Amino acid sequence: MKKRVLVLLGPNLNMVGVREKGIYGEETAESIAQQIEQKAQQLGYQCELFQSNWEGALIDKIHEARGKFDGVVLNAGALTHYSYALRDAIACVHIPFIEVHMSNVHAREEFRHQSVISAVCAGQIVGFGKNSYFLALEALKDLM
Ligand code: DQA
Repeated sequence: MKKRVLVLLGPNLNMVGVREKGIYGEETAESIAQQIEQKAQQLGYQCELFQSNWEGALIDKIHEARGKFDGVVLNAGALTHYSYALRDAIACVHIPFIEVHMSNVHAREEFRHQSVISAVCAGQIVGFGKNSYFLALEALKDLM
């Protein structure tokens, strides 16, 4: 049976290609989403991609992932840095999560150096632009 992977994107990640192009690049969120789905297919996964700007919607999706997905690639956007609610949701579901950031958060503002979700994720991939998502999909292979 195919492994089921959820790619979960948080606030403002629908604006990639429009927002801060010097940091996130010019390629649109839609184009990157298509490539994520392609990469997941190549790896033999069944993949669903979900983006929301709402913390609660992301938490609901994480709860629903229980029993439905074998692994999650998560770019939580700015929620990464302060959302204990998101952290607790991840800890609820006992599914491997990979934390992803397109930019190198450690080379940016100080508030981005902290992640409150890292401790409940299997690992963190940061700083490779859209490739961060592809690398995370690869990394999940050995965790599911
Ligand atoms: C981000 C980094 C976060 O600090 C920021 O708030 C984002 C995007 C990234 O992918 O580099 O929205 O998660």
